[in-house]
Amino acid sequence: MENGKILVVEDQDAMRESLMIAFKDEGYQVEGAVSGEEAMHKFDNQNGYDLVVTDLKMKKVDGLEVLRAVKSANPSAEVVLITAYGTISTAVQAIRDGAYDYVTKPFRHQEILKVAKKALEKKSLRDRVRYLEGEIRDKYRFEGIVGNSNAMLEVLKITSHVCRTESTVLITGESGTGKELIARAIHYNSLRKDGPFVVINCGALPENLQESELFGHMRGAFTGAIKDKIGLFQQAQKGTILLDEIGETAQSTQVKLLRFLQDGEIRPVGGNKTICVDARIIAATNENLEKAVEFGKFRKDLFYRINVIRIHLPPLRERREDIPLLVEYFLEKILEKVRKGKRVFSKESMKALMNYHWPGNIREIQNAIESAVTLSKNETISAEELPLSVEKFSEFNEDMREDQKRKSFIVTSLAEQEKNAIVEALNKYGGNQTKVAQVLGISTTTLWRKIKKYGIRPQHEISDKGEK
Ligand SMILES: Nc1ncnc2c1ncn2[C@@H]1O[C@H](COP(=O)(O)OP(=O)(O)OP(=O)(O)O)[C@@H](O)[C@H]1O
Ligand SMILES: [Mg+2]
Repeated sequence: MENGKILVVEDQDAMRESLMIAFKDEGYQVEGAVSGEEAMHKFDNQNGYDLVVTDLKMKKVDGLEVLRAVKSANPSAEVVLITAYGTISTAVQAIRDGAYDYVTKPFRHQEILKVAKKALEKKSLRDRVRYLEGEIRDKYRFEGIVGNSNAMLEVLKITSHVCRTESTVLITGESGTGKELIARAIHYNSLRKDGPFVVINCGALPENLQESELFGHMRGAFTGAIKDKIGLFQQAQKGTILLDEIGETAQSTQVKLLRFLQDGEIRPVGGNKTICVDARIIAATNENLEKAVEFGKFRKDLFYRINVIRIHLPPLRERREDIPLLVEYFLEKILEKVRKGKRVFSKESMKALMNYHWPGNIREIQNAIESAVTLSKNETISAEELPLSVEKFSEFNEDMREDQKRKSFIVTSLAEQEKNAIVEALNKYGGNQTKVAQVLGISTTTLWRKIKKYGIRPQHEISDKGEK
């Protein structure tokens, strides 16, 4: 039994009937249309066909028009064309327009059944991928975190797994990529959500104060310690601590952090008793901690304790497809705040936003939109109203990107030419590599390397495979 709903569009009755029977015999659900017009009418009624098999040459509405109508009614439906010998070039055009394949008259039923089966398999696979993508999107949605790029979906997937655990997490990424935002999402979606979320910016604490700020101190522990002080760690009981810029912690603090991660205990400065603290640690950094370990700036054992689960936030320029979503999101948020009328970005300004490289990542785009909205006088925000650094990219960078595309095109086509030359020569000289190297004026080693690089297989091996 096969699954799938097929529409057969064919104006010759005998042909249509016999095709319908052949598909029915395989277990498909089948309908027929005696003309292109009837087929069009059926799509209007949303009949949900998975596959349309249509004759190419029909009176009035031909197969190409049917193809277009199918694709516009339901882009995921597949189309297979039936062509006569003289119309193959049209069929090739049809493939460019999105048809799955064509069969040439006369054909055996087996042949078209095979093509139909493949087309339906492709469609069902694609539907499944779409469905799963949609599921991922819904499942890993966090409030206030925008992003639909694959890179971001991956981040959100790990984040949602991490919420259900107690593991220590290390979040890395350039400045402004959303490390703190992710840390908050982890805390507020974990079992600790009713406990405190304490952010400690290690970089902002002078080295000599770090220990006492983090772990507290006893009265008289040092000059100026006039009374006992509870440290930030203790304030985080039953909650989560974000150690921001962890790479900036002093060596002595690192030792104490390690102890805490090993046995959950801290000791206030000048105290002789240890205190148990029940807090989860999330560490964040925009530094390369591996390098810091290499240079002896960061303890290796502490690094291993922290680097249990790693979440890396890619810079915005590596996930440009998120830009329109972010623009829309921040625009809406800012309009709520500043009470201006409706605002939209002009084509040029959108181009600049898309092309700019955003070294300050999400924070920078947020600020850019806020400033543009505040400055804007009309409903349409022009490129000139964007911050100067961004504005410049409304013209400039697109050409640069075009240039790069051209360059890579030349590179591929040169490589392609080289590959073709080698394949041709190998065919001509029956796979004799010494002869081929000589003809092409390269050494046999170079030839061998190129054969490997381009994945060229010797002829006899190809024909071996073909016979199986
Ligand atoms: N995916 C996102 N969707 C919506 N807003 C985001 C996103 N990522 C970051 N932001 C916003 O961008 C700003 C910067 O994010 P955040 O402070 O989390 O970055 P960071 O990586 O901690 O930066 P830094 O290294 O400078 O501390 C915040 O206002 C945050 O809410
Ligand atoms: Mg931060």
